[in-house]
Amino acid sequence: MSSEKELYVTKIKDGTVIDHISPGFALNVIRILNITGKEGYVVSAVVNVPSGKLGKKDIVKIESRELIPGEVDKIALISPKATINIIRNYEVVDKKKVKLPKVIKGIVRCINPSCISNAKEPIESFFLVEIVDPLRIRCHYCGGIMEMSDVLKQF
Ligand code: CTP
Repeated sequence: MSSEKELYVTKIKDGTVIDHISPGFALNVIRILNITGKEGYVVSAVVNVPSGKLGKKDIVKIESRELIPGEVDKIALISPKATINIIRNYEVVDKKKVKLPKVIKGIVRCINPSCISNAKEPIESFFLVEIVDPLRIRCHYCGGIMEMSDVLKQF
């Protein structure tokens, strides 16, 4: 169970806690989830809190909202050690580590403007994950390599 020193923000009743986010990436996670703050539900983020496992980590808590698979894959791209906790009535009812698929389709664009996946009638982007951490993905069509900084520009 959580040690009290981790409780920088209060426990939530229902929703999703994205824990063990790479330090400094909580705001990218919020952007990935298209949370603007105007939706009306409570969102909290803590950045650079001490964590036994990682040294430091970020946490994002979203009340009354669960994630969809494409969102989880995007989080896995930028935070390979993240954990998604589903909370119902204050209890953690499901806990899953994100897992980056070996192949990533459609969630990021190739940075090579002449890649066929960026053509006038674009075909779905298709990357092979060469290294998870630090991230290195290779475009199936043009062989172009993208790293974390290239991915972050798109989220
Ligand atoms: N949490 C929350 N609200 C709840 C229950 C849990 O915000 N009602 C948060 C905790 O603060 C923690 C995360 O959800 O950040 C996971 O909770 P728990 O499994 O109890 O913590 P740990 O055992 O520390 O998780 P792990 O083993 O994944 O490190």
